Amino acid sequence: MHNFDRVSVSLECRQVFADGQPQHIGARAFEILELLIRAEGGLVTKDHIMRTVWPNTVVVENNLHVHISTLRKLFGGKHGWIRTEAGRGYRLAPPAENTRVPVVDAVPVQAHALTAQRKWSLIGREDELAELRNLFEREVLVTLVGPGGVGKSHLALEAAAALACSRRIKLCHVDLASVTGRDKLMGTLLRALRGSGDSCNVESDDVVREIGARKLVLVFDNCERCVDELAELCEAIAASNAAVSMIVTSREPLRVACERIYRVAPLAVPDTGASESDLEACSAVRVFIARAHAMGTDFPRDLKTLRMVASVCGRLNGLPLGLELAAARAASLGIKGLLADLDRSLLSLSGGLRTAHPRQRTLRASVEWSYELLGEAERTVLRRLAVFPSTFRLEAACELATCEQLGHDAVLDCVVSLASKSLLLVHAAGLSKYYSLLDCVRMYAFEKLEEAGERMQVSKRYLSSPGIDTLLTAPRRSSPMALTIAAPATVPYM
Ligand SMILES: Nc1ncnc2c1ncn2[C@@H]1O[C@H](COP(=O)(O)OP(=O)(O)OP(=O)(O)O)[C@@H](O)[C@H]1O
Ligand SMILES: [Mg+2]
Repeated sequence: MHNFDRVSVSLECRQVFADGQPQHIGARAFEILELLIRAEGGLVTKDHIMRTVWPNTVVVENNLHVHISTLRKLFGGKHGWIRTEAGRGYRLAPPAENTRVPVVDAVPVQAHALTAQRKWSLIGREDELAELRNLFEREVLVTLVGPGGVGKSHLALEAAAALACSRRIKLCHVDLASVTGRDKLMGTLLRALRGSGDSCNVESDDVVREIGARKLVLVFDNCERCVDELAELCEAIAASNAAVSMIVTSREPLRVACERIYRVAPLAVPDTGASESDLEACSAVRVFIARAHAMGTDFPRDLKTLRMVASVCGRLNGLPLGLELAAARAASLGIKGLLADLDRSLLSLSGGLRTAHPRQRTLRASVEWSYELLGEAERTVLRRLAVFPSTFRLEAACELATCEQLGHDAVLDCVVSLASKSLLLVHAAGLSKYYSLLDCVRMYAFEKLEEAGERMQVSKRYLSSPGIDTLLTAPRRSSPMALTIAAPATVPYM
């Protein structure tokens, strides 16, 4: 993938993106663009362009001007990237005031993944991008941690591309979602670093040696299924090469000494009673409307409609994956129908991208991806916590989930571990901590509680324990860990 400020070009896929959105520039313009890119900033003469793009045909120069004008518009206009050398030809080079590197190559084998990940532009997240930029200056390994579908990968790729661009170094993105086991992990990484080749019997030393002293931005994406093996490798890489920047996304941290954890929270959802302009500016609302628009659905932008969209965002706790799936559903049900149906269909919303990984095709699949990685005790505690309609304290969780087989300390360990694995959200209020479940996690856990035949028993315990408190109003978003929880789902708890 070749990046030029807001424009990215994949020569392999013959695709052009501006701000992450696909652009259609026509075959001839693309051929000219390819010549300019391959010249790596060098002059491409008019003659050469005419002979290559229109072989065996005599055309007037005006044809060339038309296509150059299309490219010029795309690449920032008169003072943008397309530079004219009067009477001679053209070159693709940064605008005079732009000191950024013209081309950042991802390792070729990963180019397609990077294209696919960034086909939508990132909405909002300005604060997060600024915070990450600061972290990258200081840290060798930053792990973006958060619940499934919260936007870790998208944010990491955006931040990593900006970092690679500003440092003028290569970016290597490796999607590890389907990689389990040490052998497969090391083999996948070595192949990605080399761009191709044989990758049998690879040891972590081979990967470290391959990186050597190279200046690189490495993005290890979707790593929750290989945290143990990756943790060890990241330590070894950090010890051998201080010029490398490692960016990891995972639902659970690696827990190594050189790691800096960055928690990614869902998008902010609007307050009830927000004004029309506040609603329109809200990131969650913008993601929903952008996706609905991409599906061919348009809503009037009046206050009444925006409030309904805001309700949808609230019901999905501002989770971008949920917003995308809900937007797809709105194409057939309309916004009103979607809202009416959401309590019933939240976990099974579908119809997002056909190319999405199976774990991202429904919210149920997304939660299940994490649930499958839990031990038996963690599963038991999580499903019992589903009876809390809102935020709760640690003591309340222990009181509710403790039983003969699972003592107080064991439950406490499970709560801590569930929070670490992003299945529980942690809210800071002064020196105290509170916990809550995203609605999709709560609904999923409640289904599991029923399947385990524990619903009546746990619900009764919740109702009959005066010591069990819930904090019905969650703290506002005062820290990356805190977020606003929508009104409890209308799950039939009792
Ligand atoms: N700020 C945003 N603006 C626009 N789209 C977003 C934003 N954040 C996330 N998305 C979209 O939401 C979907 C889920 O995001 P992403 O894949 O980054 O989540 P994730 O946290 O990495 O999930 P997982 O844990 O399953 O890997 C993607 O299609 C992504 O493009
Ligand atoms: Mg991801």
